[in-house]
Amino acid sequence: MAKVVNKKSSVLAASAPGKVPKKGAVKVADESGSRNAPLINIGIDREDRAAIAEGLSRVLADTYTLYLTTHNFHWNVTGPHFNSLHAMFMGQYTELWGSTDVLAERIRALGHYAPGSYAEFSKIATVPDVPASPPKAMEMVRILVKGHETVSRIAREFIPVAAEAGDDPTADLLTARCTVHDQTAWMLRSLLED
Ligand SMILES: [Fe+2]
Repeated sequence: MAKVVNKKSSVLAASAPGKVPKKGAVKVADESGSRNAPLINIGIDREDRAAIAEGLSRVLADTYTLYLTTHNFHWNVTGPHFNSLHAMFMGQYTELWGSTDVLAERIRALGHYAPGSYAEFSKIATVPDVPASPPKAMEMVRILVKGHETVSRIAREFIPVAAEAGDDPTADLLTARCTVHDQTAWMLRSLLED
């Protein structure tokens, strides 16, 4: 019971302005200028849009890092399982690549700029960078399991932040991302069983 209360209070803390969990206190969401355009009036207040954009920016940075890792492994996998892993990784990096566009454009719809450089991604991503030299095939699978689990945890953390602000489209998007990452982690994890 105490655990549930703690979770609730951490969700509330996360949804308060300026209380969004950040990696290294790096500001990750800059509001875009409106100049002659009318102010955004979509029923989500400014502080909530900033908090949600920060969460989406972190999910985007982690998704992009995991995308690059998966594409790298598609290129560099070796060993007796080459054919199946090469093809499996292609399906996974293609899905991840497509999702980066959806995440970035949701950030823009909330009035913020989307991060999109290696410098920005390296500051805010939780998923580690691609290994400097290609690991063995099953070590690649282990790295990808951890990566999908990490992105799922980060996305899941921000679902209540979006939901409590009335941002159902972002809550739905993050929920869909968790579904994909949980399922992909399961498939990869299954390769490691005897
Ligand atoms: Fe290819």
